[in-house]
Amino acid sequence: MTAAAGRPAVAKPFDLARIRAEFPILAEPVRGGRLAYLDNGATTQKPEAVLRAMDFYYRHQNANVHRATHDLAERATLAYEGARDRIARYLGAAREEIVFTRGTTEAINLVAYSYLLPRLRQGDEILLTGMEHHSNIVPWQLIAAQAGAKVVAAPLNDAGELDVAAWRALINARTRLAAVVHVSNTLGTLNPVGTLIGHAHAHGIPVLVDGAQAIAHLAVDVKALDVDFYACSAHKAYGPTGFGTLYAKREHLEAMRPWHGGGDMIRTVSFEGSTWNDVPYKFEAGTPDMAGAIGFAAALDYIEAQGLPAIAAHEHALLEEGTARLAEVPGLRLIGTAAQKGGILSFVMDCAHPQDIGTVLDQAGVAVRTGHHCTMPLMQRFGIPATVRASLGMYNGSDDLRQLAQALHKVRSLFR
Ligand code: ALA
Repeated sequence: MTAAAGRPAVAKPFDLARIRAEFPILAEPVRGGRLAYLDNGATTQKPEAVLRAMDFYYRHQNANVHRATHDLAERATLAYEGARDRIARYLGAAREEIVFTRGTTEAINLVAYSYLLPRLRQGDEILLTGMEHHSNIVPWQLIAAQAGAKVVAAPLNDAGELDVAAWRALINARTRLAAVVHVSNTLGTLNPVGTLIGHAHAHGIPVLVDGAQAIAHLAVDVKALDVDFYACSAHKAYGPTGFGTLYAKREHLEAMRPWHGGGDMIRTVSFEGSTWNDVPYKFEAGTPDMAGAIGFAAALDYIEAQGLPAIAAHEHALLEEGTARLAEVPGLRLIGTAAQKGGILSFVMDCAHPQDIGTVLDQAGVAVRTGHHCTMPLMQRFGIPATVRASLGMYNGSDDLRQLAQALHKVRSLFR
């Protein structure tokens, strides 16, 4: 079950062995040997606490929410709305500003279609960066094409850092919104989103931040950031797949038109016309993913119980260790060497294609992602088709990095 809203999580001492034991899948043998799960950027594994919360929901609370007066419906509604309070508290938001979505992608599409498209005119611009995930490019392209607007991307330096001066220089009277990733899924670059928001607001431009790779690794306070829209997914933060959140300032939500029509998002319906429910329900048509919300809240409880500062320190130490280990592999080049970065190690090798490297790593029980990581423009920027990406989570340790490095030396011996 989730912690009651308002109850502060008490951080336990950071104990890697205990944490690992709380993620049952990490004991799963793969290819007949030990799993080194280094694909957390794609999705994280789930602790017992999340599995238990979702199991408990289906065993003891399941009913449709907001629709009936019977006991189970009341339990389901309390648990589901309690999850909203929990998620709001984690992000520093008010509960009315938390819209449940299927994930980061849907959250960004909601802002594109419901907020920006009605405001977009021919010749307007949407400002992105060269390191955005496709989910923070394509929705803007789709609405830009409808409105005759255009998408503009600010350049990066060779370390994979945003050229902030160039980004600022791209702001002009036609810029209608800036969208930027908080932590790059491919490079690990941590963007100075607070600074960018300050610059954009000085020109009256709202900012959307894609927080998919951030919320499990660093503290996010949407009020302190003064961000307009913040999108995130549960499954990259030790929660279930298919669930996520859009934070939006209440004034934006109030001014936005509904997106999906259906049950629960209305106040009244007649054949002459309909009126809309209050925010955030105006954007939540149909039976929601109750178990998803409850699982996400349990995941955030779990993160806070370990302590975000301790998680961040652990992952940073691993990033440094991993960077040093990879530097010892001949012919390996890191892609993404920003001064400020999260736990992502993307690389290429001169002897083998990322796909082949991934295959050898898999045989050694090392799970990584290979490919363009849904960042094709970024691959073009670095003149490469793909990378191998090892991405860290709180349960990774030196043993995982050793297993990775050993397998990379094997790649070297096989392909040289
Ligand atoms: N966006 C996810 C990744 O980076 C799927 O792997």
